[in-house]
Amino acid sequence: MNSMNRRSALLAGLGVAGAGALAACSGSGSAPALLSPSGAAVAAADKKRTRSGKTHELTLTAAQAMVDLGAGITARTWAFSGRTPGKELRVSAGDTLSATLSNQLPNQTTTSVHWHGIALRNDMDGVPPATQTAVRAGRNFTYRFTADAPGTYFLHPHVGVQLDRGLYAPLIVEDPREPLSYDEEWVVVLDDWLDGVTGTPDDVFAELKQGMGGMDMDKDMGAGMGMRFMLTGAGSPLLGGDAGDVKYPHHLVNGRVPADPEVFRTKPGKRVRLRLINAGGDTAYRVALGGHQLTLTHTDGFPIRHQQVDAVLIGMGERYDALVTLGDGVFPLVALAEGKNAAGTALVRTASGSAPDPAVRPKELDGVIMTASQLSAADDVRLTSRKADQVHRIELTGGMMTYNWAINGVRFDMNDPTANPITVEQGRRVRLDFVNTTSMWHPMHLHGHTYQIGSEGPRKDTAIVLPNKTLSVFFDADNPGHWMLHCHNAYHGEAGMMALVGYQG
Ligand code: C2O
Ligand code: CU
Repeated sequence: MNSMNRRSALLAGLGVAGAGALAACSGSGSAPALLSPSGAAVAAADKKRTRSGKTHELTLTAAQAMVDLGAGITARTWAFSGRTPGKELRVSAGDTLSATLSNQLPNQTTTSVHWHGIALRNDMDGVPPATQTAVRAGRNFTYRFTADAPGTYFLHPHVGVQLDRGLYAPLIVEDPREPLSYDEEWVVVLDDWLDGVTGTPDDVFAELKQGMGGMDMDKDMGAGMGMRFMLTGAGSPLLGGDAGDVKYPHHLVNGRVPADPEVFRTKPGKRVRLRLINAGGDTAYRVALGGHQLTLTHTDGFPIRHQQVDAVLIGMGERYDALVTLGDGVFPLVALAEGKNAAGTALVRTASGSAPDPAVRPKELDGVIMTASQLSAADDVRLTSRKADQVHRIELTGGMMTYNWAINGVRFDMNDPTANPITVEQGRRVRLDFVNTTSMWHPMHLHGHTYQIGSEGPRKDTAIVLPNKTLSVFFDADNPGHWMLHCHNAYHGEAGMMALVGYQG
Protein backbone atom coordinates (compact mmCIF):
# COMPACT_ATOMS: atom_id res chain seq x y z
CA MET A 1 0.00 0.00 0.00
CA ASN A 2 1.39 3.44 -0.81
CA SER A 3 1.68 6.09 1.86
CA MET A 4 -1.16 8.14 0.40
CA ASN A 5 -3.63 5.28 0.93
CA ARG A 6 -2.27 4.61 4.36
CA ARG A 7 -2.64 8.24 5.36
CA SER A 8 -6.25 8.46 4.23
CA ALA A 9 -7.00 5.15 5.94
CA LEU A 10 -5.50 6.55 9.13
CA LEU A 11 -7.57 9.69 8.88
CA ALA A 12 -10.69 7.64 8.29
CA GLY A 13 -9.72 5.56 11.30
CA LEU A 14 -9.50 8.73 13.39
CA GLY A 15 -13.10 9.55 12.68
CA VAL A 16 -14.29 6.15 13.83
CA ALA A 17 -11.98 5.10 16.62
CA GLY A 18 -11.02 8.49 18.06
CA ALA A 19 -7.58 9.94 18.63
CA GLY A 20 -6.84 8.02 21.81
CA ALA A 21 -6.72 4.69 20.04
CA LEU A 22 -4.36 6.07 17.45
CA ALA A 23 -1.99 7.64 19.97
CA ALA A 24 -1.80 4.36 21.86
CA CYS A 25 -0.20 2.69 18.89
CA SER A 26 1.97 4.97 16.88
CA GLY A 27 3.15 7.69 19.21
CA SER A 28 3.71 10.05 16.32
CA GLY A 29 1.15 12.09 14.47
CA SER A 30 1.72 10.73 10.99
CA ALA A 31 1.77 7.31 9.42
CA PRO A 32 5.25 5.82 9.55
CA ALA A 33 6.61 4.43 6.30
CA LEU A 34 6.98 0.66 6.60
CA LEU A 35 9.43 -1.61 4.83
CA SER A 36 7.91 -3.65 2.04
CA PRO A 37 7.32 -7.41 2.63
CA SER A 38 9.26 -8.19 -0.54
CA GLY A 39 11.82 -5.38 -0.49
CA ALA A 40 15.61 -5.26 -0.23
CA ALA A 41 15.69 -5.46 3.59
CA VAL A 42 13.72 -8.72 3.52
CA ALA A 43 16.02 -10.17 0.87
CA ALA A 44 19.12 -9.09 2.81
CA ALA A 45 17.90 -10.70 6.06
CA ASP A 46 16.98 -13.87 4.16
CA LYS A 47 20.45 -14.07 2.64
CA LYS A 48 21.92 -14.48 6.11
CA ARG A 49 20.01 -17.71 6.76
CA THR A 50 22.16 -20.83 6.80
CA ARG A 51 21.25 -23.09 3.91
CA SER A 52 21.87 -26.80 3.45
CA GLY A 53 21.35 -26.64 -0.29
CA LYS A 54 18.58 -29.24 -0.16
CA THR A 55 15.08 -28.43 -1.46
CA HIS A 56 11.84 -30.32 -0.75
CA GLU A 57 9.16 -29.94 -3.41
CA LEU A 58 5.58 -30.79 -2.61
CA THR A 59 1.98 -29.85 -3.33
CA LEU A 60 -0.72 -29.04 -0.80
CA THR A 61 -4.15 -29.34 -2.35
CA ALA A 62 -6.81 -27.55 -0.32
CA ALA A 63 -10.21 -29.05 -1.18
CA GLN A 64 -13.48 -30.28 0.21
CA ALA A 65 -13.09 -33.78 1.65
CA MET A 66 -15.00 -36.40 3.57
CA VAL A 67 -12.82 -37.38 6.53
CA ASP A 68 -13.20 -40.39 8.80
CA LEU A 69 -12.84 -39.42 12.47
CA GLY A 70 -13.26 -43.03 13.65
CA ALA A 71 -16.12 -44.89 15.35
CA GLY A 72 -18.32 -44.39 12.29
CA ILE A 73 -18.10 -40.60 12.44
CA THR A 74 -17.43 -38.88 9.15
CA ALA A 75 -17.36 -35.18 8.44
CA ARG A 76 -17.44 -33.12 5.28
CA THR A 77 -14.73 -30.53 5.71
CA TRP A 78 -11.90 -28.74 3.95
CA ALA A 79 -8.56 -30.50 4.16
CA PHE A 80 -5.12 -30.66 2.55
CA SER A 81 -4.94 -33.55 0.11
CA GLY A 82 -7.98 -35.29 1.59
CA ARG A 83 -6.75 -35.90 5.13
CA THR A 84 -6.78 -34.22 8.51
CA PRO A 85 -4.26 -33.61 9.95
CA GLY A 86 -2.57 -33.20 6.59
CA LYS A 87 0.52 -35.28 5.82
CA GLU A 88 3.41 -34.38 8.09
CA LEU A 89 6.10 -32.23 6.46
CA ARG A 90 9.60 -33.02 7.64
CA VAL A 91 12.76 -31.18 6.69
CA SER A 92 16.15 -30.56 8.23
CA ALA A 93 17.25 -27.13 9.47
CA GLY A 94 18.63 -25.11 6.57
CA ASP A 95 16.57 -26.96 3.96
CA THR A 96 14.39 -25.08 1.54
CA LEU A 97 10.73 -25.90 1.21
CA SER A 98 9.06 -25.37 -2.14
CA ALA A 99 5.40 -26.01 -1.41
CA THR A 100 2.75 -25.33 -4.01
CA LEU A 101 -0.68 -24.57 -2.64
CA SER A 102 -3.37 -25.62 -5.07
CA ASN A 103 -6.66 -24.00 -4.10
CA GLN A 104 -9.50 -26.36 -5.03
CA LEU A 105 -11.89 -25.06 -2.37
CA PRO A 106 -15.58 -24.60 -3.30
CA ASN A 107 -17.58 -21.37 -3.73
CA GLN A 108 -14.75 -19.14 -4.93
CA THR A 109 -13.11 -19.38 -1.49
CA THR A 110 -9.69 -17.74 -1.27
CA THR A 111 -7.01 -19.23 0.97
CA SER A 112 -3.31 -19.23 1.93
CA VAL A 113 -0.78 -21.22 3.93
CA HIS A 114 0.85 -19.76 7.03
CA TRP A 115 3.91 -21.54 8.47
CA HIS A 116 3.17 -21.08 12.14
CA GLY A 117 6.25 -20.32 14.23
CA ILE A 118 8.79 -20.31 11.42
CA ALA A 119 11.00 -17.22 11.14
CA LEU A 120 10.92 -17.10 7.37
CA ARG A 121 11.12 -14.38 4.75
CA ASN A 122 8.12 -12.13 5.14
CA ASP A 123 6.64 -12.49 1.65
CA MET A 124 6.21 -16.27 2.24
CA ASP A 125 4.34 -15.87 5.56
CA GLY A 126 0.93 -16.46 3.97
CA VAL A 127 -1.16 -13.59 5.37
CA PRO A 128 -3.31 -12.04 2.65
CA PRO A 129 -3.42 -9.17 1.94
CA ALA A 130 -0.58 -8.15 4.32
CA THR A 131 2.16 -10.34 2.80
CA GLN A 132 0.64 -11.62 -0.46
CA THR A 133 -2.61 -11.49 -2.39
CA ALA A 134 -5.03 -14.25 -1.41
CA VAL A 135 -4.83 -17.39 -3.54
CA ARG A 136 -8.05 -17.51 -5.54
CA ALA A 137 -10.06 -20.66 -6.15
CA GLY A 138 -8.60 -22.68 -9.00
CA ARG A 139 -5.18 -21.01 -8.64
CA ASN A 140 -1.79 -22.07 -7.30
CA PHE A 141 0.83 -20.28 -5.26
CA THR A 142 4.31 -21.61 -4.48
CA TYR A 143 5.79 -20.90 -1.08
CA ARG A 144 9.56 -21.10 -1.24
CA PHE A 145 11.58 -20.44 1.89
CA THR A 146 14.41 -21.71 4.06
CA ALA A 147 13.58 -22.91 7.57
CA ASP A 148 16.77 -22.48 9.55
CA ALA A 149 15.63 -23.13 13.13
CA PRO A 150 14.89 -26.72 14.16
CA GLY A 151 11.68 -27.48 16.02
CA THR A 152 8.03 -28.45 16.06
CA TYR A 153 5.80 -26.24 13.93
CA PHE A 154 2.58 -26.52 11.95
CA LEU A 155 0.83 -24.96 9.01
CA HIS A 156 -2.66 -23.61 8.47
CA PRO A 157 -4.47 -21.03 6.31
CA HIS A 158 -4.57 -17.39 7.40
CA VAL A 159 -7.93 -16.43 5.90
CA GLY A 160 -11.09 -15.96 7.98
CA VAL A 161 -11.73 -18.85 10.37
CA GLN A 162 -10.36 -21.54 8.02
CA LEU A 163 -7.99 -22.53 10.85
CA ASP A 164 -10.97 -24.28 12.47
CA ARG A 165 -11.56 -26.49 9.42
CA GLY A 166 -9.44 -29.56 8.69
CA LEU A 167 -6.76 -27.47 6.99
CA TYR A 168 -3.68 -28.07 9.14
CA ALA A 169 -0.58 -30.27 9.16
CA PRO A 170 2.51 -30.67 11.32
CA LEU A 171 5.82 -29.28 10.10
CA ILE A 172 8.89 -30.75 11.76
CA VAL A 173 12.29 -29.15 11.26
CA GLU A 174 14.89 -31.67 12.40
CA ASP A 175 18.18 -30.65 13.97
CA PRO A 176 21.07 -32.11 11.96
CA ARG A 177 23.03 -32.12 15.24
CA GLU A 178 20.20 -33.33 17.47
CA PRO A 179 21.46 -33.27 21.08
CA LEU A 180 18.66 -35.44 22.53
CA SER A 181 18.71 -39.20 22.25
CA TYR A 182 15.54 -41.22 21.88
CA ASP A 183 14.30 -44.37 20.17
CA GLU A 184 11.09 -43.13 18.61
CA GLU A 185 9.35 -39.91 17.83
CA TRP A 186 5.57 -39.40 17.76
CA VAL A 187 3.80 -36.30 16.50
CA VAL A 188 0.58 -35.65 18.42
CA VAL A 189 -1.80 -33.11 16.93
CA LEU A 190 -4.72 -31.94 19.07
CA ASP A 191 -7.87 -30.37 17.63
CA ASP A 192 -11.36 -29.33 18.64
CA TRP A 193 -13.77 -30.40 15.93
CA LEU A 194 -17.20 -29.33 14.74
CA ASP A 195 -16.87 -28.74 10.99
CA GLY A 196 -19.39 -30.84 9.11
CA VAL A 197 -20.83 -32.22 12.35
CA THR A 198 -22.79 -29.40 14.02
CA GLY A 199 -22.11 -26.67 11.47
CA THR A 200 -19.15 -24.86 9.96
CA PRO A 201 -16.68 -22.41 11.51
CA ASP A 202 -18.34 -19.67 9.44
CA ASP A 203 -21.69 -20.52 11.09
CA VAL A 204 -20.01 -20.36 14.49
CA PHE A 205 -18.44 -16.99 13.81
CA ALA A 206 -21.74 -15.59 12.52
CA GLU A 207 -23.39 -16.55 15.80
CA LEU A 208 -20.58 -15.40 18.08
CA LYS A 209 -20.40 -12.01 16.33
CA GLN A 210 -23.91 -11.24 17.52
CA GLY A 211 -22.49 -11.41 21.03
CA MET A 212 -24.06 -12.49 24.26
CA GLY A 213 -25.89 -9.17 24.22
CA GLY A 214 -27.92 -10.52 21.31
CA MET A 215 -29.19 -13.35 23.44
CA ASP A 216 -32.41 -13.00 25.39
CA MET A 217 -31.31 -14.73 28.60
CA ASP A 218 -34.77 -15.28 30.09
CA LYS A 219 -36.41 -16.40 26.90
CA ASP A 220 -33.57 -18.37 25.31
CA MET A 221 -32.26 -20.01 28.47
CA GLY A 222 -35.73 -20.44 29.98
CA ALA A 223 -36.94 -22.22 26.88
CA GLY A 224 -33.76 -24.33 27.01
CA MET A 225 -32.72 -23.04 23.61
CA GLY A 226 -29.56 -21.11 24.38
CA MET A 227 -27.18 -20.69 21.48
CA ARG A 228 -26.27 -23.32 18.90
CA PHE A 229 -22.52 -22.92 19.13
CA MET A 230 -21.72 -20.53 21.95
CA LEU A 231 -20.47 -22.14 25.12
CA THR A 232 -21.19 -20.45 28.42
CA GLY A 233 -20.01 -21.42 31.87
CA ALA A 234 -16.80 -23.20 30.82
CA GLY A 235 -14.50 -22.45 33.72
CA SER A 236 -10.88 -23.31 34.48
CA PRO A 237 -8.78 -22.20 37.44
CA LEU A 238 -5.64 -22.82 35.35
CA LEU A 239 -6.90 -20.37 32.73
CA GLY A 240 -8.07 -17.84 35.29
CA GLY A 241 -11.79 -18.26 34.61
CA ASP A 242 -13.69 -18.54 31.34
CA ALA A 243 -12.01 -21.31 29.30
CA GLY A 244 -13.61 -20.95 25.87
CA ASP A 245 -16.44 -19.67 23.69
CA VAL A 246 -17.37 -22.61 21.48
CA LYS A 247 -19.08 -25.97 21.94
CA TYR A 248 -17.31 -28.78 20.10
CA PRO A 249 -18.87 -32.22 19.67
CA HIS A 250 -15.42 -33.86 19.31
CA HIS A 251 -11.86 -33.51 20.49
CA LEU A 252 -9.37 -35.25 18.25
CA VAL A 253 -5.87 -36.61 18.61
CA ASN A 254 -4.33 -37.04 15.16
CA GLY A 255 -7.79 -36.79 13.63
CA ARG A 256 -9.39 -39.56 15.73
CA VAL A 257 -12.09 -39.59 18.39
CA PRO A 258 -11.42 -41.38 21.74
CA ALA A 259 -13.68 -44.34 20.89
CA ASP A 260 -11.46 -45.28 17.93
CA PRO A 261 -8.10 -43.74 18.77
CA GLU A 262 -4.70 -43.50 17.20
CA VAL A 263 -2.53 -46.29 18.70
CA PHE A 264 1.20 -45.74 19.13
CA ARG A 265 3.05 -49.04 19.46
CA THR A 266 6.53 -49.81 20.74
CA LYS A 267 8.37 -51.90 23.36
CA PRO A 268 8.59 -51.30 27.11
CA GLY A 269 11.62 -49.26 28.15
CA LYS A 270 11.77 -47.32 24.89
CA ARG A 271 12.46 -43.62 25.13
CA VAL A 272 10.07 -41.59 23.01
CA ARG A 273 10.02 -37.96 21.97
CA LEU A 274 6.50 -36.58 21.82
CA ARG A 275 5.83 -33.51 19.71
CA LEU A 276 2.55 -32.04 20.95
CA ILE A 277 0.79 -29.45 18.77
CA ASN A 278 -2.46 -27.66 19.64
CA ALA A 279 -4.16 -26.96 16.30
CA GLY A 280 -7.49 -26.16 17.95
CA GLY A 281 -9.63 -23.10 17.35
CA ASP A 282 -10.93 -22.40 20.86
CA THR A 283 -9.64 -25.06 23.27
CA ALA A 284 -6.62 -25.33 25.56
CA TYR A 285 -5.59 -28.92 26.28
CA ARG A 286 -4.16 -30.34 29.49
CA VAL A 287 -2.11 -33.34 28.35
CA ALA A 288 -0.91 -36.32 30.37
CA LEU A 289 0.17 -39.90 29.71
CA GLY A 290 -1.34 -42.29 32.23
CA GLY A 291 1.25 -43.90 34.50
CA HIS A 292 4.11 -41.68 33.34
CA GLN A 293 5.82 -38.39 33.97
CA LEU A 294 6.88 -36.28 31.03
CA THR A 295 10.18 -34.45 30.69
CA LEU A 296 9.51 -31.23 28.83
CA THR A 297 12.41 -30.36 26.52
CA HIS A 298 11.10 -27.71 24.11
CA THR A 299 8.28 -25.30 23.65
CA ASP A 300 7.36 -23.67 20.35
CA GLY A 301 10.38 -25.34 18.76
CA PHE A 302 12.99 -23.89 21.13
CA PRO A 303 14.82 -25.81 23.89
CA ILE A 304 14.10 -25.19 27.55
CA ARG A 305 15.76 -26.38 30.75
CA HIS A 306 14.37 -29.88 31.11
CA GLN A 307 11.44 -30.05 33.45
CA GLN A 308 9.63 -33.11 34.86
CA VAL A 309 5.86 -32.76 34.93
CA ASP A 310 2.74 -34.84 35.25
CA ALA A 311 0.78 -32.74 32.75
CA VAL A 312 1.22 -29.73 30.50
CA LEU A 313 -1.30 -27.06 29.51
CA ILE A 314 -1.18 -26.18 25.82
CA GLY A 315 -3.00 -23.18 24.36
CA MET A 316 -4.03 -22.90 20.72
CA GLY A 317 -0.93 -22.47 18.56
CA GLU A 318 1.50 -23.64 21.28
CA ARG A 319 3.72 -26.71 20.95
CA TYR A 320 5.62 -28.76 23.52
CA ASP A 321 8.16 -31.53 23.07
CA ALA A 322 8.56 -34.09 25.83
CA LEU A 323 10.63 -37.19 26.47
CA VAL A 324 9.14 -40.22 28.16
CA THR A 325 10.48 -43.69 28.97
CA LEU A 326 7.65 -46.13 28.55
CA GLY A 327 6.42 -48.73 31.01
CA ASP A 328 4.94 -52.11 30.19
CA GLY A 329 1.25 -52.04 29.30
CA VAL A 330 -1.45 -50.00 27.57
CA PHE A 331 -1.59 -46.31 28.52
CA PRO A 332 -4.00 -43.50 27.65
CA LEU A 333 -2.53 -40.29 26.29
CA VAL A 334 -5.27 -37.85 27.25
CA ALA A 335 -5.77 -34.26 26.10
CA LEU A 336 -8.32 -32.82 28.48
CA ALA A 337 -10.28 -29.97 26.87
CA GLU A 338 -9.53 -27.50 29.64
CA GLY A 339 -12.71 -26.33 31.35
CA LYS A 340 -14.93 -28.10 28.80
CA ASN A 341 -15.45 -31.46 30.50
CA ALA A 342 -14.35 -33.46 27.45
CA ALA A 343 -11.12 -34.88 26.05
CA GLY A 344 -9.25 -36.27 23.10
CA THR A 345 -7.37 -39.54 23.56
CA ALA A 346 -4.71 -41.69 21.94
CA LEU A 347 -3.29 -45.00 23.17
CA VAL A 348 0.29 -46.01 23.85
CA ARG A 349 0.71 -49.75 23.66
CA THR A 350 3.86 -51.63 24.71
CA ALA A 351 2.12 -54.89 25.63
CA SER A 352 -1.02 -56.82 24.83
CA GLY A 353 -4.03 -56.26 27.08
CA SER A 354 -7.30 -54.48 26.83
CA ALA A 355 -7.58 -50.77 26.14
CA PRO A 356 -8.73 -48.46 28.93
CA ASP A 357 -12.20 -46.92 28.84
CA PRO A 358 -12.21 -44.09 26.25
CA ALA A 359 -13.46 -41.77 29.00
CA VAL A 360 -10.53 -42.51 31.35
CA ARG A 361 -8.91 -39.54 33.13
CA PRO A 362 -5.44 -40.50 34.38
CA LYS A 363 -4.54 -39.06 37.79
CA GLU A 364 -1.51 -37.31 36.26
CA LEU A 365 -3.95 -34.73 34.83
CA ASP A 366 -4.28 -33.40 38.36
CA GLY A 367 -0.63 -33.71 39.34
CA VAL A 368 2.16 -31.20 38.74
CA ILE A 369 1.01 -29.12 35.78
CA MET A 370 3.40 -26.75 34.08
CA THR A 371 2.68 -23.73 32.01
CA ALA A 372 5.22 -21.67 30.09
CA SER A 373 5.62 -18.99 32.74
CA GLN A 374 7.25 -21.56 35.08
CA LEU A 375 9.81 -22.71 32.50
CA SER A 376 13.24 -21.33 31.54
CA ALA A 377 15.01 -21.01 28.21
CA ALA A 378 17.93 -23.36 27.61
CA ASP A 379 21.27 -21.54 27.92
CA ASP A 380 22.05 -21.66 24.22
CA VAL A 381 18.83 -19.90 23.15
CA ARG A 382 18.44 -17.38 25.97
CA LEU A 383 18.53 -13.80 24.69
CA THR A 384 21.63 -11.85 25.65
CA SER A 385 20.74 -9.45 28.40
CA ARG A 386 20.13 -6.05 26.96
CA LYS A 387 17.83 -3.17 27.79
CA ALA A 388 14.75 -2.86 25.61
CA ASP A 389 15.09 -0.04 23.07
CA GLN A 390 11.40 0.01 22.24
CA VAL A 391 8.42 -0.80 24.44
CA HIS A 392 4.86 -1.30 23.23
CA ARG A 393 1.85 -1.67 25.43
CA ILE A 394 -0.42 -4.28 23.85
CA GLU A 395 -3.69 -4.01 25.67
CA LEU A 396 -6.03 -6.93 25.07
CA THR A 397 -9.54 -5.58 25.05
CA GLY A 398 -13.15 -6.56 24.36
CA GLY A 399 -15.52 -9.21 25.57
CA MET A 400 -18.33 -11.61 24.87
CA MET A 401 -21.20 -9.12 25.11
CA THR A 402 -20.61 -7.62 21.68
CA TYR A 403 -17.77 -9.93 20.68
CA ASN A 404 -15.55 -6.88 20.14
CA TRP A 405 -12.17 -8.53 20.81
CA ALA A 406 -9.43 -6.06 19.93
CA ILE A 407 -5.93 -4.76 20.63
CA ASN A 408 -5.67 -1.34 22.28
CA GLY A 409 -9.40 -0.92 21.65
CA VAL A 410 -8.94 -1.15 17.88
CA ARG A 411 -10.49 -4.03 15.97
CA PHE A 412 -8.08 -5.07 13.26
CA ASP A 413 -9.31 -4.68 9.71
CA MET A 414 -7.65 -7.21 7.39
CA ASN A 415 -8.79 -5.15 4.40
CA ASP A 416 -6.49 -2.35 5.51
CA PRO A 417 -3.73 -4.13 7.42
CA THR A 418 -1.22 -1.27 7.62
CA ALA A 419 -3.73 1.30 8.88
CA ASN A 420 -2.58 1.26 12.48
CA PRO A 421 0.76 -0.56 12.79
CA ILE A 422 2.86 -1.27 15.85
CA THR A 423 6.20 -0.10 14.55
CA VAL A 424 9.62 -1.51 15.33
CA GLU A 425 13.04 -0.62 14.04
CA GLN A 426 15.39 -3.23 12.67
CA GLY A 427 18.24 -4.10 15.04
CA ARG A 428 16.33 -3.02 18.16
CA ARG A 429 15.46 -5.04 21.24
CA VAL A 430 11.70 -4.77 21.59
CA ARG A 431 9.55 -5.38 24.63
CA LEU A 432 5.85 -6.07 24.28
CA ASP A 433 3.72 -5.76 27.39
CA PHE A 434 0.57 -7.79 26.93
CA VAL A 435 -1.92 -6.21 29.31
CA ASN A 436 -5.01 -8.37 29.49
CA THR A 437 -7.93 -6.17 30.55
CA THR A 438 -10.52 -8.78 29.56
CA SER A 439 -12.06 -11.56 31.61
CA MET A 440 -10.68 -14.30 29.34
CA TRP A 441 -7.27 -15.77 28.61
CA HIS A 442 -5.68 -15.24 25.18
CA PRO A 443 -2.85 -17.19 23.48
CA MET A 444 -0.88 -14.33 21.89
CA HIS A 445 1.07 -15.27 18.78
CA LEU A 446 3.71 -13.24 16.97
CA HIS A 447 4.69 -14.16 13.43
CA GLY A 448 8.28 -14.31 12.18
CA HIS A 449 9.99 -14.13 15.60
CA THR A 450 10.44 -16.19 18.74
CA TYR A 451 10.16 -13.88 21.71
CA GLN A 452 11.36 -14.63 25.24
CA ILE A 453 9.10 -14.48 28.26
CA GLY A 454 10.74 -12.20 30.81
CA SER A 455 14.51 -12.24 31.32
CA GLU A 456 14.92 -16.01 31.87
CA GLY A 457 11.75 -17.58 30.53
CA PRO A 458 11.27 -19.81 27.49
CA ARG A 459 11.56 -18.65 23.91
CA LYS A 460 8.09 -18.86 22.38
CA ASP A 461 5.96 -17.56 19.55
CA THR A 462 2.62 -18.14 21.32
CA ALA A 463 2.00 -17.51 25.01
CA ILE A 464 -1.00 -17.69 27.27
CA VAL A 465 -1.95 -14.32 28.80
CA LEU A 466 -4.30 -14.82 31.73
CA PRO A 467 -7.22 -12.47 32.47
CA ASN A 468 -6.29 -9.29 34.34
CA LYS A 469 -2.60 -10.16 34.08
CA THR A 470 0.34 -8.59 32.26
CA LEU A 471 2.97 -10.63 30.43
CA SER A 472 6.16 -9.02 29.10
CA VAL A 473 8.01 -10.58 26.21
CA PHE A 474 11.24 -9.55 24.45
CA PHE A 475 12.52 -10.04 20.94
CA ASP A 476 15.23 -8.75 18.65
CA ALA A 477 13.84 -7.06 15.57
CA ASP A 478 15.91 -9.08 13.11
CA ASN A 479 13.39 -10.24 10.53
CA PRO A 480 12.05 -7.25 8.59
CA GLY A 481 8.53 -7.18 7.21
CA HIS A 482 4.88 -6.99 8.15
CA TRP A 483 4.11 -9.50 10.90
CA MET A 484 0.81 -10.34 12.53
CA LEU A 485 0.44 -10.26 16.27
CA HIS A 486 -2.82 -11.85 17.38
CA CYS A 487 -4.84 -14.04 19.65
CA HIS A 488 -4.71 -17.62 18.34
CA ASN A 489 -8.31 -18.23 19.34
CA ALA A 490 -9.57 -18.42 15.74
CA TYR A 491 -12.71 -16.44 16.61
CA HIS A 492 -11.04 -13.77 18.75
CA GLY A 493 -8.44 -13.14 16.06
CA GLU A 494 -11.05 -12.87 13.33
CA ALA A 495 -13.23 -10.59 15.49
CA GLY A 496 -10.31 -8.15 15.67
CA MET A 497 -7.81 -9.15 18.37
CA MET A 498 -5.00 -8.75 15.88
CA ALA A 499 -2.43 -6.12 14.97
CA LEU A 500 0.37 -5.65 12.49
CA VAL A 501 3.94 -5.28 13.69
CA GLY A 502 5.68 -3.34 10.93
CA TYR A 503 9.36 -2.58 10.48
CA GLN A 504 9.95 1.09 9.86
CA GLY A 505 11.59 2.01 6.60
CU1 C2O B 1 -1.04 -19.84 13.61
CU2 C2O B 1 -1.32 -15.91 12.65
O1 C2O B 1 -1.14 -17.88 13.08
CU1 CU C 1 -8.39 -14.42 22.61
